[in-house]
Amino acid sequence: MAEPIPAQKAPYRVELEQGRTYAWCRCGRSAKQPFCDGSHSGTGLAPDVFKAEESRTVFLCGCKQTGEPPFCDGTHSSL
Ligand code: FES
Ligand code: FES
Repeated sequence: MAEPIPAQKAPYRVELEQGRTYAWCRCGRSAKQPFCDGSHSGTGLAPDVFKAEESRTVFLCGCKQTGEPPFCDGTHSSL
């Protein structure tokens, strides 16, 4: 299995819409960060699919090293 690579060493600010399903890119290879575009194919990695329980602003991990996917937990600051 390939390792995730950082898309950027900072989170992405995203406005989530209640009830909508999102696929956060775990592999770092998507051209549509922070979301999956299928580029993980062949890596053995898969996106983190989640449904927004409410409409709110979140910070999704861009470095792909977070311990709390899909959210930024501050790990990027030590990379
Ligand atoms: Fe990265 Fe799909 S492109 S998980
Ligand atoms: Fe990955 Fe913050 S961007 S932990």
